[in-house]
Amino acid sequence: MQTNFDEIINRKNTNSIKYEPGVLKEMFGSEDLLPMWVADMDFKCPDVIVNAILERATHGIYGYSDMDDAFYDVFIDWNMRRNQWKIERDWICYSPGIVPAVNYIVQAFCHTGDKVIIQNPVYYPFSQAILNNGAQVIYNPLVKIENQYKMDFDHLEEIVKDSRVKLFILCNPHNPIGRVWSEEDLLRLGEICIAHDVIVVSDEIHSDLILKGHKHIPFASLSENFAEHSITCMSPSKTFNIAGLQISNIVIPNANIRATFQTILENNAIRHPNIFGIVAQKAAYGEGEQWLEEVLEYIEGNMDYIDAFVKARLPEIKFQKPEATYLAWLDFSGLGMDQLSLEKWMHHEVKLALDEGYIFGEGGEGFERINVACPRSVVVEALERIEKAVALRR
Ligand SMILES: Cc1ncc(COP(=O)(O)O)c(C=O)c1O
Repeated sequence: MQTNFDEIINRKNTNSIKYEPGVLKEMFGSEDLLPMWVADMDFKCPDVIVNAILERATHGIYGYSDMDDAFYDVFIDWNMRRNQWKIERDWICYSPGIVPAVNYIVQAFCHTGDKVIIQNPVYYPFSQAILNNGAQVIYNPLVKIENQYKMDFDHLEEIVKDSRVKLFILCNPHNPIGRVWSEEDLLRLGEICIAHDVIVVSDEIHSDLILKGHKHIPFASLSENFAEHSITCMSPSKTFNIAGLQISNIVIPNANIRATFQTILENNAIRHPNIFGIVAQKAAYGEGEQWLEEVLEYIEGNMDYIDAFVKARLPEIKFQKPEATYLAWLDFSGLGMDQLSLEKWMHHEVKLALDEGYIFGEGGEGFERINVACPRSVVVEALERIEKAVALRR
């Protein structure tokens, strides 16, 4: 490995929301917790990105900026090479992030009271985006069969019949449960949604973070018909740890859907990206692939470490290794605590700042989401803190 992912880098006083003492105190009630919640990495992004930003920074003029051919070409090539998906340049729209994009999409395609389907437990800003923009959330809860989360197609067939359902938000790979949806799942889902004229909004922000033995399939790559009924949200932000640069690519093959989305962007004056986001995307997709392979190997090692530790030393806790993402989804329900007691115990006894499972919606209670894009020693420290606190309850 060229990069030393074991290095501990001090992120305090860097405006990091994960590490700012004020934020920790406000959100978790204490500053001395080990923060493993918000989904960014504690690793430095690839040198190729740092160098590209340094070079641009020394120019010294940071005026209004726009994308150039190279910005689009690296993204198109990346998708062709890694996902075998051919994207036309015209399909790509800018958004400062995927959460903003999901909000704009709800504004664009839902009138007050229209409905949007999500599959809980799922990334909680989806429901916020729906509710904050006057639409209603309709749940198609994931079901757990033989320790594996699955989509409930029978239930989906029923709820999608409602003519007020306008959008289905797919999370692929699925945060927080870490599944990479199969071609069979995506085909069935697409057929059901298209039959009822529901647009599939496919959030694929984690699609480069695929662990061994799995393969990401962009929903829109499955057929022209799927592409025509879809909006795909992608970004180099999770992949290369550049979320603070606020750049994302919203891919909309259907010209009418794209025009409607672009009107909302116009109405919100979303036009010119941050110059450093442009520079970073070019360096990331253009030259960052080797680094990505290395970081994935390291994350895989962290997941394997958790798996072995939990099996050997924490029989009360269940862990299913994810297929993608750097987010471990651990089931603490065996400890017999309700969600608020578990949260309190995590903050006051274990001393970890995590995302509580219940914030991802029904089905998340009793779980904790742990961000393991960090040095192995931090993962070890977190697990040992859990082990110590669990031992006191035995
Ligand atoms: C599924 C999913 N979508 C979107 C985001 C955030 O996107 P952005 O930072 O581009 O708004 C996250 C961050 O964790 C995520 O997990």
